[in-house]
Amino acid sequence: MPYAKIIGSGGYLPPRVVSNDQLAADLATRQIETSDTWIVERTGIRQRHIADEGVMSSHLATEAARLALEDAGVTAADIDLIIVATSTPDFVFPSTACLVQANLGAKGGAAFDVQAVCSGFVYALTTADAFIQAGRAKTALVIGAEVFSGILDWNDRGTCVLFGDGAGAVVIQASAEPGIIGAQLNADGSQTKILCAAGNVSRGKVTGDPFLRMDGQAVFKLAVNCLAKSAHEVCEQAGIALTDVDWLVPHQANIRIINFLGRKLHIPEEKVVVTVDSHANTSAASVPLAFDVARRDGRIKTGDTVMMQGVGGGFTWGSVLVKM
Ligand code: UT7
Repeated sequence: MPYAKIIGSGGYLPPRVVSNDQLAADLATRQIETSDTWIVERTGIRQRHIADEGVMSSHLATEAARLALEDAGVTAADIDLIIVATSTPDFVFPSTACLVQANLGAKGGAAFDVQAVCSGFVYALTTADAFIQAGRAKTALVIGAEVFSGILDWNDRGTCVLFGDGAGAVVIQASAEPGIIGAQLNADGSQTKILCAAGNVSRGKVTGDPFLRMDGQAVFKLAVNCLAKSAHEVCEQAGIALTDVDWLVPHQANIRIINFLGRKLHIPEEKVVVTVDSHANTSAASVPLAFDVARRDGRIKTGDTVMMQGVGGGFTWGSVLVKM
């Protein structure tokens, strides 16, 4: 069976940057109190990118995909599978993946969305890996794309300061050489309420609550424990030690979660990729965006072993181990 190898990556952030101070000033006009100090101390976030009105996940996904295709040296015609991980699709249907396929001018092959919130990218990458291993696809685009600004309650300071918009993409291709060497996915549907956007479009109106709601402390505790366990399990599955991991690319939600995780796994800070300070939490886009940053700045190199980890609503979590 062939391996699936990452042959290119790309990331795209909408150009509008909103600093903590700008956000605090905006919230203050509605008598909502927050500060750069609180946000930085509790989360490590300093700024986020916010899409302008009318800019949707498919637009960000398409830009990231174009950069990934260029980086991989392949064209849209080579792509026979597109998976977009998103919880903020443009429409109820068609899928965001189909919109991206049309934007790229790609023809044929499967295109569909995966919905696993902040774990979406590791779910999508694992799915694409399975297609390639089974011989059902040869060259796949795997994208995480979100416009979370559209589902935030901008009057809830406990959530609206945490998220940003963006998209990250990778191209994976069938190869005889090791690429994705392990994957481990999990869900616990009994924990749906700690992180959800429990709204729907039905009979011509929005029913339920259209905004993201989170019990931050419950998510925090689960995230650290689940990711630590998943890291051990995926290494055991691949027959490697945690010390063999050159780069940890965790979901970028909170620097305190990332630091706790690193300490629990005895992975030194220098081996952990962090973008939460400048991107905030971009949900399914956070892992591929961070991966792309570390590839392009030369940290992640050919031959390195990379562990990507996602965690979020559902409750869902998982890890993918990649040999570059
Ligand atoms: O991507 C999915 C995964 N999501 C996550 O991983 C998020 C996980 N959770 C977290 O990152 C943290 O729990 C938060 C950043 C959401 C919150 O940090 P915390 O240290 O757990 O704070 P807290 O919720 O216990 O709130 C502490 C205080 C409260 O005030 P009182 O009750 O102590 O008076 C909050 O009302 O901070 C207050 N607070 C704020 N103050 C200023 C909450 N949000 C803000 C804010 N600015 N934006």
